[in-house]
Amino acid sequence: MKEQPIGIFDSGVGGLTVAHAIKQILPGESIIYFGDTAHLPYGDKSAESIRYYSQRITEFLLNHNSKVVLVACNTASAFAFDSLKKEFQEKTILLDVIDPVVDYMSTRNIKKIGVIGTKGTISSGTYEKMIKEKSPSTAVVSLATPLLVPMIEEGFIFDDISNAIIRTYLSNESLAGIEALILGCTHYPIIRNQISKFFNFNIEVIDSARIVAMILRDALDKNNMLNDSGIVKDQFFVSDYTTYFGKIAKMFFEGEINLMKADIWS
Ligand code: DGL
Repeated sequence: MKEQPIGIFDSGVGGLTVAHAIKQILPGESIIYFGDTAHLPYGDKSAESIRYYSQRITEFLLNHNSKVVLVACNTASAFAFDSLKKEFQEKTILLDVIDPVVDYMSTRNIKKIGVIGTKGTISSGTYEKMIKEKSPSTAVVSLATPLLVPMIEEGFIFDDISNAIIRTYLSNESLAGIEALILGCTHYPIIRNQISKFFNFNIEVIDSARIVAMILRDALDKNNMLNDSGIVKDQFFVSDYTTYFGKIAKMFFEGEINLMKADIWS
């Protein structure tokens, strides 16, 4: 049980930001990562489709022996986490990327907070609803920033194109006066620096990666499931090969990564 990997999934490279934080905080753990690149981006898909993809991917990760399944995608966390809990809660430990961030926010005393994310995540209203429940006095403004995921997946990161898109989105009047900004998409930490720079490094920019990795560590510890065998083996699967996935994965996980195609949709 202890040696089994941590199952992690996202639509593409975004969840690697969470996987990376997990490897830093829990270097003794093995991970099995699934990037559903055949269906990227998730942000434009219907809730039914996201639920279907998430269920099938969770089955795949459990069939590959995952001891935990971590939904490292905000869109899937918003649309599919409840149905995943209904279906798989008895079989495994399930974690998402929204609950831990909302819990963290409730420990901070923030008057106005911004959330950026995919069209799906923002239209679901999940962050607003959950923050309002836990921190009723915090004003929440949400903004869909749908070009950011394709931009990042295409490798436009530290250039004029990405700067122009980021500037255009973040200049939106609704974000004026925010004290903190939640990166409500696991792809966004890849451009975190440009985002912080836009706000002159004056506001707190929050992403789920470290927060979730620490929740995972506590969950494994509590259940006596930390891998103390010294045997670590990471596996990376995609549902469709994209050149960029391999490049970004190598950026996060120095050296060679073993990228395999898993044909779960045919
Ligand atoms: N990284 C994802 C998220 O956190 C997926 C974005 C997408 O594929 O549109 O929502």
